[in-house]
Parts: sequence; structure tokens; C-alpha cells
Amino acid sequence: MATPKTPIIAFLIFLLFSTPTTSTATKKPVRGHLPCKEMVFYFHDVLFNGQNHDNATSAIVGSPQWGNKTTMATPFSFGDLVIFDDPITLDNNFHGPSIGRAQGMYLYDQRSIYGAWLAFSFLFNSSAYIGTLNFVGADPLMNKTRDISIVGGTGDFFMTRGIATLMTDSFEGEVYFRLRVDIKLYECWQ
Ligand SMILES: *[C@@H]1O[C@H](CO)[C@@H](O)[C@H](O)[C@H]1NC(C)=O
Ligand SMILES: *[C@@H]1O[C@H](CO)[C@@H](O)[C@H](O)[C@H]1NC(C)=O
Ligand SMILES: *[C@@H]1O[C@H](CO)[C@@H](O)[C@H](O)[C@H]1NC(C)=O
Ligand SMILES: *[C@@H]1O[C@H](CO)[C@@H](O)[C@H](O)[C@H]1NC(C)=O
Repeated sequence: MATPKTPIIAFLIFLLFSTPTTSTATKKPVRGHLPCKEMVFYFHDVLFNGQNHDNATSAIVGSPQWGNKTTMATPFSFGDLVIFDDPITLDNNFHGPSIGRAQGMYLYDQRSIYGAWLAFSFLFNSSAYIGTLNFVGADPLMNKTRDISIVGGTGDFFMTRGIATLMTDSFEGEVYFRLRVDIKLYECWQ
């Protein structure tokens, strides 16, 4: 009975010791991906501050117990949740022609430095593009550039994925900021 089992045990021992070596040896090489599409947009956010109701494009909808909905909480706006519907333009001119809207939310989730978490969509409605791009990710605001994920898209951006590099292009107190968004798509289906 012992004889037929021996090769099996030997094989199991072989598997046990060979597996780690094999998986290291077959580790996938890091490929240098190139984007299939690159675009640059700006979006403009005017936060409601109690007086600018007609012009505001965003509003604090949730604040911590120690804050309120017209002023960012201290410290570091922690706990504030903002909903926005911001115009998207091709250059940094707020009054330039808008090619769509950036709609969604950002929430401040860092207690010891300015940092937010973003979840929003670009809704394009122009002769250049029709469709949406969906963004999500952490936004450490003190970084000059921040990368967030583009997790999908529809219409002209069917099934896409990529990275958006955000840059604060202008910042006027708590009321107005402008973001430059450098989009690199690495998966394009059309
Ligand atoms: C809204 O913007 C217009 C033009 O930029 C300006 O004249 C007006 O004073 C603003 N209104 C408020 C409430 O900020
Ligand atoms: C909101 O909080 C700020 C800062 O604490 C305060 O100056 C302001 O008066 C408050 N506004 C309202 C409407 O309670
Ligand atoms: C898109 O633009 C067209 C033409 O300006 C307009 O009729 C339509 O309502 C817009 N759709 C959305 C979802 O904004
Ligand atoms: C923010 O900056 C730090 C330091 O330069 C860097 O290590 C980090 O990757 C940056 N984070 C993002 C999300 O870009």
C-alpha cells in the first residue's frame, strides 16, 4: 500500500516547494501604458455663502454638529458635505461657453489637513462630446496635483477608464475655486 502513495506525496511536496518559486518567476511584467485619449477641462465652483443664492453652483448640505451650512467647519472643513452642479469649460474663463456640467459631491474627510473625497460625473452636452465620465477618489487638497480614478463612462465615453489629474487653478477664499482637470483615458472602446 505504501508504494503507490509515495509518488503522490512526492508530487505534493514538489507542489508545496515549487509554487512560490513558479509564481515569482511568472510575475507579470510592468507594461508602459499609453493613454488612448487626452483632454483638458476646467470646472468652476461657486459655493453658497448665505448671500449668493442666485449665482451659487454648490451648497453645503451636511455639516458636523459644530458647523453650519453657510460656512465651512473648523478645523479643515472636516465633516462638510457639498453638492455641486458646476459648469465645465474648455479654458479657464468662468463665463466662457460651457460644454457640460460637473455634478456630484465632495466631502471633507481629513481632520489634520485639507483633504476631500470626490464622487461626481461630467455630463457632456455639446457638439464636441455627448455622454458622461464618472470620477471617484481621494483629493488631498494641499498637493499641487491630485490623481483620481475615472471609473467608467457612457455615450462617446462608452466603457472607458482612466486617470484625471486635478489642479487647483484658482481659489478665492471659500467661495470660488476653479479646477483644471487633465484627463487621460487608458481604455477606449470607441
Ligand atoms: C451674480 O453674478 C452677477 C454677474 O456676475 C453679479 O452682477 C451679481 O451681483 C451676482 N449676484 C450675487 C447674489 O452674487
Ligand atoms: C455659521 O458659522 C460661522 C462660523 O462659526 C458663523 O460666523 C456664522 O454666523 C454661522 N452662520 C449661521 C447662519 O449660523
Ligand atoms: C443638451 O443640449 C440641447 C441643445 O442645446 C438641449 O436641448 C438639451 O436639453 C440638453 N440636454 C441636457 C441633458 O442638458
Ligand atoms: C500627494 O503628494 C504626495 C507627496 O508629494 C505623494 O506622495 C502622493 O502620492 C500625492 N497623492 C496624490 C493622490 O496625488
